Amino acid sequence: MSILKEIQKRKTFAIISHPDAGKTTLTEKLLLYSGAIHIAGAVKSNKIKKTAASDFLEIEKQRGISVTTSVLSFDYNGYKVNLLDTPGHKDFAEDTYRTLSAVDSVILVVDCVKGVEEQTEKLMRVCRMRKTPVIIFINKMDREGRNPVELLDELESKLDIRVRPLSWPLGMGALFKGVYNLYKNTFAFFVSSKQTVEEDVQIFDGVNDPKLDDAFGRNAEKLREDVALINGVYEDFDIEKYLSGEVAPVFFGSALNNFGVKELLDTFVSIAPSPRKRETTQGDIEPHHKHFSGFVFKIHANLDPKHRDRIAFLRVCSGKFERNTFYHHVRLNRDMKFSNPASFMAQTKSLLEEAFPGDVIGLYDSGTFTIGDTLTDGESFMYKGVPRFSPEVFRELRNSDPFKTKQLEKGISHLTDEGLAQMFTQNVGNRKVIGVVGELQFDVLKYRLLHEFGASCEFVPINAHKACWVQFDDKKDVEELFHIRSHHLYYDKNNKLVYLAESEYSLRIAMEKNPKARFLFSIEHNDQTLDLEKTA
Ligand code: G4P
Repeated sequence: MSILKEIQKRKTFAIISHPDAGKTTLTEKLLLYSGAIHIAGAVKSNKIKKTAASDFLEIEKQRGISVTTSVLSFDYNGYKVNLLDTPGHKDFAEDTYRTLSAVDSVILVVDCVKGVEEQTEKLMRVCRMRKTPVIIFINKMDREGRNPVELLDELESKLDIRVRPLSWPLGMGALFKGVYNLYKNTFAFFVSSKQTVEEDVQIFDGVNDPKLDDAFGRNAEKLREDVALINGVYEDFDIEKYLSGEVAPVFFGSALNNFGVKELLDTFVSIAPSPRKRETTQGDIEPHHKHFSGFVFKIHANLDPKHRDRIAFLRVCSGKFERNTFYHHVRLNRDMKFSNPASFMAQTKSLLEEAFPGDVIGLYDSGTFTIGDTLTDGESFMYKGVPRFSPEVFRELRNSDPFKTKQLEKGISHLTDEGLAQMFTQNVGNRKVIGVVGELQFDVLKYRLLHEFGASCEFVPINAHKACWVQFDDKKDVEELFHIRSHHLYYDKNNKLVYLAESEYSLRIAMEKNPKARFLFSIEHNDQTLDLEKTA
């Protein structure tokens, strides 16, 4: 098969949601439909519960399972679908943001009872930043939820995206009858079932078809009114607007009851984008570019202390990857070959011979990769767009065992490469500050430092509100910062200057006093414009 055909066949996406909206359930139903798994409950093992760190660690101990479920590839209707898993827990949100850099589209799951929740908004902000096409699935229609029109309004106002329902529900909760497909004029009758059953579907000749009265009695009029309202208010669905991230098509269903899932999957494979061009430090690279290239967006450690190896997940962006071939590690300026790259097929991991744009490869790594690294066929560009965000929680790192200093340094270096945390080193003095997205990560860090590296440490609370990267053109632009706020200046792992503000107020003052400096709350792993020399 030609490489173009291989590219067109691939749909690489992620499912995102606020915890509990139904992401895991929907993932499982998609896999059941594709025939990739045969039993319900198979995906649950990957679920990071929302409770205590101990639960997380217990689950993480079973990494064997979670590594393979990080990517779920399956074939459906002639397409090769790559579903990249994202952690449900908000403390690991940064991992999700990075995974979003490796997909071509997303399905957003919203709970019809709860509507748009905090995590939904944050995730959508990242999607909007990259203009990622989004399909919305309003889940749990078997429950007494909010009015669908209100839900659509809330999606538009809180997520700042235009929506276009492609189907419309009749009733909800105990009175939920099913959904009317606004384009195919079919009605799928709701049947409560946890198995994969063919949906009970009836075709109509538009909403004015008298057969509608036979099927729904008095409810037929309500459906006609609703459909007229929807078609009057919302513009016709325009696939180009979906592909450019302006409009999100909306479906209604119930993942638990396997209702509306097939319709979602069928539409997804027919409209979701195949791999497209991606931005690099040397301009855009098309997927059909004749040479192989890709980037690492996730690193997964093996928690078994006997096996320190990790798996670097690489998204193929152009050309064809082949096993046992030398490729160029751009950051290290070194050629490497991979004799046992892995591919992921639903629940199993197997040796991979070749891969195409859109595919994700697992590369065994003993510490050569860090997030954002690019592999090419000799070219020296690096992929952009893998984000690093300002952490939310900061603690000072203190070594508890001076005889294990080396182990601690090594451990921290490994774990920051994985993207589990960021480390900032003070400009004057030697204070080391660890920044993470959520408290839970400190427990995980501590556990892993001890069990994998034999290092013990304390994380001491400090007075810090926000870290932002400081960009400037001339040293004079940051003179005030270096003179007055020197103790709050740090360097990140890549020697980029960071201002660690104690409060919102001190951040505002620093910005006012250094008007020519740029204070950034997120940067890209490979943003070369930010490569500032260590100044002090
Ligand atoms: P998440 O991955 O987004 O966190 O959500 P998950 O799929 O785990 O679903 C969260 C809860 O919502 C689960 O119940 C799940 O069974 C339920 N759920 C998912 N889809 C639907 C639906 O369409 N209708 C209804 N009524 N419930 C749905 P749980 O009690 O927390 O877990 P479990 O005991 O069922 O595993």
